[in-house]
Amino acid sequence: MSRRKRVAALISGRGSNMAALIEAARAADFPAEIALVLSNRPGAGGLETAAAAGVATAVVDHRAYPDRESFERAMQAELTRAAIDIVCLAGFMRLLSPWFVQCWEGRMLNIHPALLPAFKGLHTHERALAAGVRIHGCTVHLVTPGMDEGPILAQAALAVAPGENAEALGARVLALEHRLYPAALRRFIAPQTAQALQGDPIFAGL
Ligand code: GRF
Repeated sequence: MSRRKRVAALISGRGSNMAALIEAARAADFPAEIALVLSNRPGAGGLETAAAAGVATAVVDHRAYPDRESFERAMQAELTRAAIDIVCLAGFMRLLSPWFVQCWEGRMLNIHPALLPAFKGLHTHERALAAGVRIHGCTVHLVTPGMDEGPILAQAALAVAPGENAEALGARVLALEHRLYPAALRRFIAPQTAQALQGDPIFAGL
């Protein structure tokens, strides 16, 4: 197999999707290693999880920089230093400038907790319930300058249960995210090694 791609997971919080990527990458045949976890928040819980898993971590605290450009240049320096090939946004809560997005064009993925193009942005589970959708889920997509707009790589869907609240729905979608993101990353890097996920939810694009 060719050299494993070096992936950076960008986080702002608990990092459960990051942890799912780290876990998946432990498999010898996974085509990527999580070479760096980069957080814009020094207190992000995911930093401890990553360190405990033996993954290198870095913090670029956006509050320490006068503007978005200098913040992003500092992140870019960390990514370059770690010889990163692919960036996976995993609950990273800063908007990225066109400059940064262009640096990673075609090499930056995001996971979003809704079936895009529906419910871009925040509070997706509450909004899905308010809209009365019967099918909800999550999406892995390439990042382009428009928020939650890039080409869709893979999606996973589930049926909303009668009377389900946003918390319960969000927990079920999160469990789907943890299966979808590693599978989508694998397929993105090495389509020939991809295996379709099976089970009650619907996985598509894998
Ligand atoms: C996930 O729901 C992800 O889809 C969204 O932010 C959340 C991050 O959760 N982009 P975690 O930090 O991966 O646990």
